[in-house]
Amino acid sequence: MTVKFKIDGVSVEAAEGASVLDVARRYGFEIPSLCHHEAVTPYGACRLCLVEIAKGGRKKLTTCCNYEVLEGISVVTDTPEIRRHRAMVLELILAEAPDAEPVRRLAAEYGVRTTRFPAKPKGEAGEKRDCILCGLCVRVCSEIVEANALTFNGRGEKRGVGTPYHEASDQCIGCASCASVCPTGCIEVKDTADAREIWGRKFGVVRCESCGAPFMTEAHRDRAVADGPLPAEYFKTCPACKRKALSGRFAAVGA
Ligand code: SF4
Ligand code: SF4
Ligand code: FES
Repeated sequence: MTVKFKIDGVSVEAAEGASVLDVARRYGFEIPSLCHHEAVTPYGACRLCLVEIAKGGRKKLTTCCNYEVLEGISVVTDTPEIRRHRAMVLELILAEAPDAEPVRRLAAEYGVRTTRFPAKPKGEAGEKRDCILCGLCVRVCSEIVEANALTFNGRGEKRGVGTPYHEASDQCIGCASCASVCPTGCIEVKDTADAREIWGRKFGVVRCESCGAPFMTEAHRDRAVADGPLPAEYFKTCPACKRKALSGRFAAVGA
């Protein structure tokens, strides 16, 4: 069913169940976020996507990544009050991730260059510096990669993400999807000509038979072949060479 509502006075529509944040972005409204990816379940951790939502004559400030669209609501994405709240949240996040360039950049957009909050203590085994506990890596590993190799460890100030008990995980396939979505870039991936190291494990890599470039880990290939439907031969060449071969075929047809 389609739901109609307003964002900053503009009439918009979306399918029931969509989040206000995803719909707003689809329509070109800018709302900051650090813990959201539309491919995984919302978690509401960073509180940056704060907006004002009016429903039935009542207004409230709320995060919108985890707020489902409703008929007739009115969403306001930017007011001095919203900016004040986001600036405060960014100060807190800056204390957790003082070296993360994406956080510093976003904070600067809200006039935040330093933080009054004490830096989060670091140093637990396996704990990532600059981790803001957004949980994106955990959700992507579980919901998209379906490896379930990551989890939250510890409590309170010692809470962090990593493999269970910070031990190398047999479930990890070294795909680095977790690192690619991490908003602070704090998941370390070491790629060399022959291997990839991530989360305390070293993986052999598959090289493209055509161009020689490494393009996935052997563990990732083995899982993809085991899960089907593509045969092992499919993983002998990299995506770029496959595309080239395909466009070559089209060119031959058109000649
Ligand atoms: S590299 Fe490992 S931990 Fe990261 S998403 Fe892939 S399987 Fe999960
Ligand atoms: S490691 Fe990155 S993606 Fe994972 S919880 Fe921390 S900040 Fe988020
Ligand atoms: S994007 Fe909504 S709380 Fe982080």
